[in-house]
Amino acid sequence: MRIFMLTGAGISAESGLGTFRDPGGIWERFDPMKLATPEAFARDPDTVHAFYNARRANLRDAAPNAAHAALARLEQGLASMGGELFLCTQNIDDLHEQAGMRHVLHMHGELFKVRCTACGAVHEWRGDLGRQDACPACGTTGRLRPHIVWFGEIPFGLDMIGEKLADADLFVAVGTSGSVYPAAGFVQEARAMGLRTCELNLEPSDNARVFDERAYGPASEVVPDFVERVLREIR
Ligand code: APR
Repeated sequence: MRIFMLTGAGISAESGLGTFRDPGGIWERFDPMKLATPEAFARDPDTVHAFYNARRANLRDAAPNAAHAALARLEQGLASMGGELFLCTQNIDDLHEQAGMRHVLHMHGELFKVRCTACGAVHEWRGDLGRQDACPACGTTGRLRPHIVWFGEIPFGLDMIGEKLADADLFVAVGTSGSVYPAAGFVQEARAMGLRTCELNLEPSDNARVFDERAYGPASEVVPDFVERVLREIR
């Protein structure tokens, strides 16, 4: 069996990382147009750096939850039976990797990485970032930015996403509101290609009616239940 899994902020909610559009969510407290666009960064880099420095600090204190652990089990279980779990996450945290996931496509980038706009090099970066920092590769100061896809920029890995969708039997969305494209359109693409589709979420997403199957509740409960059911089915 080949599963295409799309995760969103909801899978990391129980690890203490905020979601974006729930009541009290990140975009309710902060204006994305002032913090998550290339124009905002060009206009006020210090404010954007401070926003992502605070999120890096949160992530350093966060740990994966039972949902992340269950998906790592599913990846290994499917691989041991000649199948595949392709995990595409909208999340910029590393909780899937911390839980033991071997292959993760971060279509919106990664909070613990920075990119040099002078030479293009990408570096691991777990601490604060500011204009005074120099690129470890080319030495240029003040040209490092978060390696994160901002609004108006092209997500990473779209070619591979298209290939993996075409190759899969089942599409599963976990913890995403289905409100940001292109990720929000993946379920329609999956249906058009004849895949079965399943939504695992705290509550019905914007796309809920499009899914063949749906299970609602905290990811730390519904995801392990789903994984155990799939592993039983294919054994
Ligand atoms: N368990 C499961 N689902 C949950 C939980 C939980 N404990 N808590 C919240 N959710 C669900 C919410 O019901 C909601 O449908 O997770 C979803 C979170 O939706 P958003 O906050 O919109 O996050 P996401 O869908 O990942 O946003 C997509 O928008 O701003 C951009 O780049 C950002 O990657 C992000 C993208």
